[in-house]
Amino acid sequence: MEQTTQISPADIARQLEFCQKAAALSARRPQQPLALVDTYGCQQNEADSERLRGFLAAMGFGFTQNEEEAQIIVLNTCAIREHAEQRVFGNVGALVHVKRRHPDTLICLCGCMVQQPHAAEKLRTSFRHVDLVFGPQALWRFPEMVYTLLTQQGRIFSVEDEAGSITEGIPVVRQDRGEAWVSIMYGCNNFCSYCIVPYVRGRERSRRQPDILAEVRQLVQAGYRDITLLGQNVNSYGKDLPEPTDFSALLEAVNAIPGDFLIRFMTSHPKDATLRLFQTMARCEKVAPVLHLPFQAGNDRILKAMNRRHTRAQYLEKIQALRDLIPDIVLTSDVIVGFPGETTREFEDTLAVLEAVRFDALFTFLYSPREGTPAARMDDPMPREEKLQNFNRLTALQDRISEEKHAAYVGKTLRCLVDGASGDLRWPLDDPHYHELTARTPGNRLVRTTGPETAVGQFRDIHITGANKWSLFGTLV
Ligand code: SAH
Ligand code: SF4
Ligand code: F3S
Repeated sequence: MEQTTQISPADIARQLEFCQKAAALSARRPQQPLALVDTYGCQQNEADSERLRGFLAAMGFGFTQNEEEAQIIVLNTCAIREHAEQRVFGNVGALVHVKRRHPDTLICLCGCMVQQPHAAEKLRTSFRHVDLVFGPQALWRFPEMVYTLLTQQGRIFSVEDEAGSITEGIPVVRQDRGEAWVSIMYGCNNFCSYCIVPYVRGRERSRRQPDILAEVRQLVQAGYRDITLLGQNVNSYGKDLPEPTDFSALLEAVNAIPGDFLIRFMTSHPKDATLRLFQTMARCEKVAPVLHLPFQAGNDRILKAMNRRHTRAQYLEKIQALRDLIPDIVLTSDVIVGFPGETTREFEDTLAVLEAVRFDALFTFLYSPREGTPAARMDDPMPREEKLQNFNRLTALQDRISEEKHAAYVGKTLRCLVDGASGDLRWPLDDPHYHELTARTPGNRLVRTTGPETAVGQFRDIHITGANKWSLFGTLV
């Protein structure tokens, strides 16, 4: 069994010393320096940005969304599809003007995209205004790199191909009221043939259960009501740990933490989603009745070429087993359209899975070749127009299903977590306490309502009065 490399407390303490030294520099400025952190990609990246903000706050920085007034700009990037990369290169290119106006502003790029050799090389040679580039595995050394740049001339690139490690004790500045993400593991071992994640995020490694439980306990005490456990494939949690444990055992332990809160998790891989997991979900009252279980494609030949290691029949059997245990489970999934060699006939098997399962919502993606992955070398004869046609058929079908599923909520009263208020005041107009609010059903469907801002971060009963394909509408009871 592989031993997880844990960054030692002494190494983290050293980084926190760099934070203090940087904070001393910040304190000497006439005004508090500001940082801008912009995040692309998935929740894992959002969680990493919360750590970057934690480090920055410890270095004495405040936060801004305005690049003109930032002393440090961090773009935390994603590599999952070409479009994600193009957006980053577009935005980092535009920063050249900011750097010209404010030469002292530090421009940093981190995250999955920069861990790809071709992207790092492009930044090194063609984006000379970028000062610091570091991959996900180097994030824990952020304070040291920033301090070096604050005190010395030059650029830093830290994008070595590292196996990856586990770090505890990094400070965190969280974004949301009521909702918090907790990474339980990092990396991926699955090597789905289209996917870049295992190359940029390293091998699977799990945090120790006591560290996770301590973090969740602290969050619940601080008033967080919705805890999402994060990993690329949470169902393989613990396989690398010396003590015998698994994801079901972890769920059970999190569920036993006292307090009024919901537990969510993502993402699950169908091949590792077991009956034991479903039974645990059914038994644990705090585990939200929702599962995100990506199936990617409905055709077995394509699933094999994707290296997903499950068949359509196995997927459908698992869904049935889950529904037998939790009949009202909310199901969501990811689908790729236009995988190399997928014919329209094979694509129709994906439509058939949609009809068979009737997901509450679906995340649909057009296949995007990623350099270095096996799929990028496969023959891909289908013209883009045909892929787009298939893509549109898929979204049209899902829109219809989502609309039907949402319509069935009308008339019900659900206990929802109010998670946001817009600044807009709503009727009654002269009442400053009424805001447009957003809330989440236990199954994580979006609800729009109005009410006092003080409801944010609390569970409230909402009577559902309307619905469309995207969201539900209701009134606070
Ligand atoms: N670990 C998660 C997925 C992370 S990536 C899992 O296995 O379920 C999120 C989604 O992006 C994937 O589920 C897949 O549908 C999509 N995706 C990944 N690589 C892609 C690519 N090269 N082109 C298009 N979509 C892709
Ligand atoms: Fe990518 Fe597959 Fe790993 Fe998900 S399980 S991150 S799709 S390789
Ligand atoms: Fe993107 Fe990296 Fe997440 S590639 S989707 S940010 S793991």
